[in-house]
Amino acid sequence: MKKKIAILTSGGDSPGMNAAIRSAARLAIQREWKVYGVFRGYSGLINGQIEELGLRSVSNIIQRGGTILRTSRCKEFETKKGMQKAAGVLDSLHIDSLILIGGNGTFRGGEEFGQIWKGQLIGIPGTIDNDIFGSDNTIGFHTAVTTAVEALDKIRDTAEAHERMFLVEVMGRQAGYIALATVIAGGAEEFFIPEIHQDLADVAERLSKNKKRGKTSSIIVVAEGNEHGSALEIAERLKKMTGNEYRVTVLGYVQRGGAPVPEDRILATKLGAYAIDMLADGVTGVMVGEVKGALTITAFRDTWEKKKELDQFLLKIAPIIAL
Ligand code: F6P
Repeated sequence: MKKKIAILTSGGDSPGMNAAIRSAARLAIQREWKVYGVFRGYSGLINGQIEELGLRSVSNIIQRGGTILRTSRCKEFETKKGMQKAAGVLDSLHIDSLILIGGNGTFRGGEEFGQIWKGQLIGIPGTIDNDIFGSDNTIGFHTAVTTAVEALDKIRDTAEAHERMFLVEVMGRQAGYIALATVIAGGAEEFFIPEIHQDLADVAERLSKNKKRGKTSSIIVVAEGNEHGSALEIAERLKKMTGNEYRVTVLGYVQRGGAPVPEDRILATKLGAYAIDMLADGVTGVMVGEVKGALTITAFRDTWEKKKELDQFLLKIAPIIAL
């Protein structure tokens, strides 16, 4: 059966979303399906901002960060009225399937929309945070970590030159995946992440001991969502405890931009293609992912209700290897 599908990106953009759009669009067109791009996420769905995509609409985008379809965080889609409007728009164009590229919020929306709209819904995990159950890595995670590690390497140079302590704040919302990977790859001395309790006084003591042992500079990675607050707040408290000066860098949105690294392009291409296979098989209400090298599907609800664990081995060795 020739299908009519639409693709949208929603929530925080992540590098590699374009590669997923390209892959899904091309694999669908190869099956002689009609493909539409929805602009500005759920907001564009409600307002009918939809255009047909051809093979050339997705040319020259695999290497580009951001999303050619644009994105948004849409409050109106959280209401029944907003969803009904969106369903009406899709039905008026005879679109039978919708691919959602995004994170937790996007899939929550997808789960509810599935109660209202009768078409097929397939999710693709696109977020730098990597906080989604059902895929070992999310599209954009590797690029964000690469950006954060490059920044850490640069900060290390000046930290050593001045013999200073630095706090570097990374994104991740309520999850420490970006932070832990950055700590390991960047050789950071200490870290604060939401998943683990760290006593500030213990950290202060270890930093002082390190100094006495001859370590003249240290880098502390601070993840968003940790129990002690922002890097600036932690710096103030550590200063009071140790008397040392701390410099702070908040990496912020640079982690969301830039050309996707090859891992993200390949993952996005795989998952975009697999989403089309799943639509062809009549599947709905699931996210496609990759777990231990195998392509998988996970019910929308499980993607946020079940918890993907941080790498316990890395967590165990992280405090030891930077002594
Ligand atoms: O989910 C991606 C992310 O960049 C998080 O790491 C961060 O907490 C949040 O989005 C920022 O959201 P906004 O783009 O709405 O400022």
